[in-house]
This record gives sequence, structure tokens and C-alpha cells, in this order.
Amino acid sequence: MAKVIDGKAISQMIKDEVKQKTEALKQEGIEICLAVIQVGNDPASTVYVGNKKKACAYTGIHSKSYELPEETTEEELLHLINMLNQDASVNGILVQLPLPAHINEDTVIQNISPDKDVDGFHPQSVGRLSIGQRGFLSCTPAGIIQLLKRSNIEIEGKECVVIGRSNIVGKPMAMLLLRENGTVTVCHSRTKNLKEICRRADILVAAVGKPKMIDSSYVKQDAVVIDVGVHRNENNKLCGDVDYDSVFPIAGYITPVPGGVGPMTIAMLMNNCLEAALMQNGK
Ligand code: GUN
Repeated sequence: MAKVIDGKAISQMIKDEVKQKTEALKQEGIEICLAVIQVGNDPASTVYVGNKKKACAYTGIHSKSYELPEETTEEELLHLINMLNQDASVNGILVQLPLPAHINEDTVIQNISPDKDVDGFHPQSVGRLSIGQRGFLSCTPAGIIQLLKRSNIEIEGKECVVIGRSNIVGKPMAMLLLRENGTVTVCHSRTKNLKEICRRADILVAAVGKPKMIDSSYVKQDAVVIDVGVHRNENNKLCGDVDYDSVFPIAGYITPVPGGVGPMTIAMLMNNCLEAALMQNGK
């Protein structure tokens, strides 16, 4: 039977650590500020942005909100980003994705100053991660490393299998596990004998995007199973990429949905804002 990794409790610990350090910086006269930009009003994005602003309020980070209409042009958005890049009182810039179809996301991400790239999506942040330099880490995979470390799960020398190769989760997850000296395999939609490869994993990270696809037939006895997926099932209940009921009896550790990986993303965003302020102040 698996031990359940409590992402809610671990994310709370991280937010409390950020809050403490943010208060200490305030004593030195340094206030942390995150600019949050949303273009249009995609309902899911509105919920995410709301949760990010709430976490800022909790940790003592000032959030500046920019809610732009759907018709905003790429040029207007780039103009705002450029102003925020130059504004020394702003430490981090977050542009909520997805953007409307007429705006090129790559162009927008590349125009955020790498020093303020708290999402860790800028090519410079991605490059730094892959060559082992200090930089901003994509929040969800960075949160997964924290879940493992704070549950005393060793990564070094372990067979780690990541299912999914997105720029936001799969690829940075693989790089982070490699940095922790795991032996990493990345699987994707064209992978042959996926099940066989997954069954080798000591640590299995599922970021497939298919509800409950990973059942016990993909999992080795006592493996650590990390579920990045968030879906609504037929009864409107949240579920992940992992078939929890099937995997729970044989896994060593498992993350639930909700309450596993999800809350970690925002906690790590807060940590990246703190990192940004520290770096910009030469600390
Ligand atoms: N949309 C979905 N996840 C994310 C995220 O982590 N950051 C941003 N900026 N947009 C998202």
C-alpha cells in the first residue's frame, strides 16, 4: 500500500518559508513585487491567476495585476512587458498562458527579461537548467523535486521515467531528475513498449494528459508514482493521469489529485519571486 505524498502540506511549508524570508527582506527595505498579466478571460486562467494573487497576498509579495482585453495586440502586450522589464520595482513578470491565437507565445516569452522570468520559460532559463547554471526553474517540475526531497525519497541512481515531453513539464522534469543524478528515460506518444519501460521505473512521473491512463499494469511494486495530470471525470470530479485506485495498492508512494502536484506549482512560483528579488539585490 502506498504512502500518500501530501502536496498541500508540503506546499504550505514552502509558502511559509517564503513568507518568512519575504518579511526578513522587508526589514531590509526590500519589497518583492510580481506583475501578473492575463489577456482575455479564459475561465481556467482566471482561476489560476486568482490563486497566484492569493498566494502573493499570503506570502507578503506585492502583486500588480494587468487584465487586458482579448483584442490586445501583440505589440501592445510587448510594450507593457518592456515597461515592466525596465521598472526596477517589479521583480517578476508572469504572463498567463494560453494567449489568444493572434499573439505568438514564443515571442512574448522571449521578450520577458530573463532576470524576471519567474515562470522559467525563457530560453535562457531553459538553457541554464540544461547546463547546470543557477536560474529560474519551471514551477511544476521544480515542485515535484521538492515533493520527492521533502518525502526523503532518494533520486540518485534511481530509474526515473517521465511520460510526456512538454516544454513546461516533461523536458524540464527530465533535466531536473538528471541534475539529481537519476537515470532518466523520457517517453512520449511515439514511444514503443511504453508499459515495459514504465515498469522499470523506481520513480514514474506521469504527464501524459490522458485521464487515468496509467493503471497498475504500468507500475513496478513499490515505485514512486507522481501524477501531474488534472482532469474532470464523468461525475465532474477531479482525477489525474494515474488510475489512483488501481495503482495505490502496489506503489510505494503516490501523489493524489487534487492535493499532490497541483499546489506545488504556485508555491514554487512564490519561491521564484523570492529568488528573483534576491538575485536582483545581489544576494
Ligand atoms: N498556464 C498553465 N500553466 C501555466 C504556468 O505555469 N504559467 C503560466 N504563465 N501560464 C500557465
